Amino acid sequence: MKRQALMLQDPLFVLAVAAQGGKNSPARYSMPGLAEKHGHKGLDIRPELYEVGLDALLETVKRHDPEHSHEIDEAWRTTLASGIEYMRSHR
Ligand code: HEM
Repeated sequence: MKRQALMLQDPLFVLAVAAQGGKNSPARYSMPGLAEKHGHKGLDIRPELYEVGLDALLETVKRHDPEHSHEIDEAWRTTLASGIEYMRSHR
């Protein structure tokens, strides 16, 4: 339980599992609360900052993965897209 709680504090874990895990996965049902926390009544993260964050993440992946490729970049973007879109549209 403690481990599960820790994993849910990790944005990447949440996004990847929300995209690929089942409908009832903890990551999926934590999305509304997370979106609210980042939304205009909470941290008030501007929608365009999600794009900035994604690009920074992928730049880091590119620098550190010796096997980096265009396909890997696309795979990250595809996997994370639905969660990011959710966060941007539920603020
Ligand atoms: C889809 C993208 C994102 C996801 C899934 C996400 C997810 C999370 C998660 C899981 C936490 C920890 C929450 C907790 O422990 O209760 C967190 C905290 C936080 N996030 Fe994000 N995040 C995203 C994007 C962003 C962006 C773009 C920013 C700012 C530019 C941001 C700013 C913050 C801040 C400041 C906290 C700390 C809040 C606190 O400690 O009270 N997040 N986020």
